[in-house]
Amino acid sequence: MGRATKVVLAYSGGVDTSVCIPYLKHEWGVAEVITLAADLGQGDELEPIQQKALQSGASESLVVDAQESFVKDYAFPAIQANALYENRYPLSTALARPLIAKLLVEAAEKYGADAVAHGCTGKGNDQVRFDVSIAALNPNLKVLAPAREWGMSREETIAYGERFGIPAPVKKSSPYSIDRNLLGRSIEAGPLEDPRTEPLEEIYLMTKAIADTPDTPEYVEISFEQGIPTQLNGEAIAPVKLIAQLNQIAGNHGVGRIDMVENRLVGIKSREIYETPALLVLIQAHRDLESLTLTADVTHYKRGIEETYSQMIYNGLWYSPLKGALDAFVQKTQERVLGTVRLKFFKGNATIVGRWSDNSLYTPDLATYGADDQFDHKAAEGFIYVWGLPTRIWSKQVRG
Ligand code: ARG
Repeated sequence: MGRATKVVLAYSGGVDTSVCIPYLKHEWGVAEVITLAADLGQGDELEPIQQKALQSGASESLVVDAQESFVKDYAFPAIQANALYENRYPLSTALARPLIAKLLVEAAEKYGADAVAHGCTGKGNDQVRFDVSIAALNPNLKVLAPAREWGMSREETIAYGERFGIPAPVKKSSPYSIDRNLLGRSIEAGPLEDPRTEPLEEIYLMTKAIADTPDTPEYVEISFEQGIPTQLNGEAIAPVKLIAQLNQIAGNHGVGRIDMVENRLVGIKSREIYETPALLVLIQAHRDLESLTLTADVTHYKRGIEETYSQMIYNGLWYSPLKGALDAFVQKTQERVLGTVRLKFFKGNATIVGRWSDNSLYTPDLATYGADDQFDHKAAEGFIYVWGLPTRIWSKQVRG
C-alpha cells in the first residue's frame, strides 16, 4: 500500500518538484500524480512547464492563473494591515502560500485526490505555511512532502530525475535560491549566507542600482478607497496592473530593496534579500493615509494588531480563527480610509510629500499657529491638571 492513491502536487517546473513526480509514484506507491502550477506573476512560461510535468510522469497538468486573486485577496488585506514581518519584510513570498494551498485543495476535491504534495524542504517557513493552510481548508487531506524526507543532495536529486527522463538543468545552476512572484523576489543562499557580505548587484532584477536611476525625480499619486489602492495618478487601475506598474516605477528609481537577517519559524536565523518595490510603497502610502483618516486611538491600537497579523502570515496561520478575527478588526478600521497620497521617487527613496482626503480628520482651524486658531488654549490647563494628577501625587509621596 502506498501513502496515497491520487495526489495533487504543487509544481514549479524546477528540479525538485519535477523529481517529486517519479518519487511519489515509485518510492511511495502513488498511482496518479496531477500537477498544479499557479501563475502568480513569477514570469515563467507556463506552457513548457505544463509539458514538462507530463513528460515527467504526471497524468494531468493543471495551470491556474491566480494573479488577480493573489493581489485582491492576499496582498490587499496585507496592505490594509500594513503587514511587515519584523517591521521590514512585506511578506511577498509568505502571502503566496495560502493561495497555492487553496488551489491545491480545490483541485484535490475536484479530482478526488486523497493527498496533496509540495516540494518544500524541512528547513523553511514555506512547508509550515502549506501544511497548516491545507489542514485548515481540508483536514482530511494528507500532505506529502517528499523533499522533506528523501535526504538527497542536489546532485543526487538531479541523477534520480535523469533515471526517469527528467533532464538536468541546462543553465549552470545559480548559487542563489530565489522565489519570485508579482509581489517581489526573495533571494537567499550562496554568498548571501555570510551576513557581513554586501550582495552583488547581479542578484537584483526588479530594482536598479542608485547609480543607474534617473537624475530627475518622479511624482506619483496613489488613491485608496477603504484602504485599497484603486487609482494611479488619478486614473482607475486594475489590481494586477497597479502592482506591475508600481513595481516598474519604484524599481526604476531603486526603491524596494531589503537586506535583513530574519527569524524563521523553525528557529533558524537567515539572511534574506528582498525586492518588493510596489508592496513597500503601497504600505508606506496606506499607512500615511491612515494617519489622516483614523482617530489616534484606532491608529495606536491597530499597530499592535498589525504586528500580530504580520507574524501570523509569516508563520502560516492565514486561515486560522484568530487571523479571521483580526481581519474583521482591520476591515472595520478601513471603512473611511479614502484619499490620495503623493510620492516623490528619487535616488532610492520614495518620499511622501502630500496627502488629502474627503474623510480627513485633520482640522486646520485647530492645527494652525496663525491668527484664525480655534483651539481653546485655556481648556488645556484643566486637562493637564487632571492628566498629570497621578504623577503629581506620586512625586509628592516619593520626593516629599
Ligand atoms: N524567508 C522568506 C519567507 O519565509 C522567503 C523564502 C523564500 N524562498 C527562497 N528560496 N528564497 O517568506
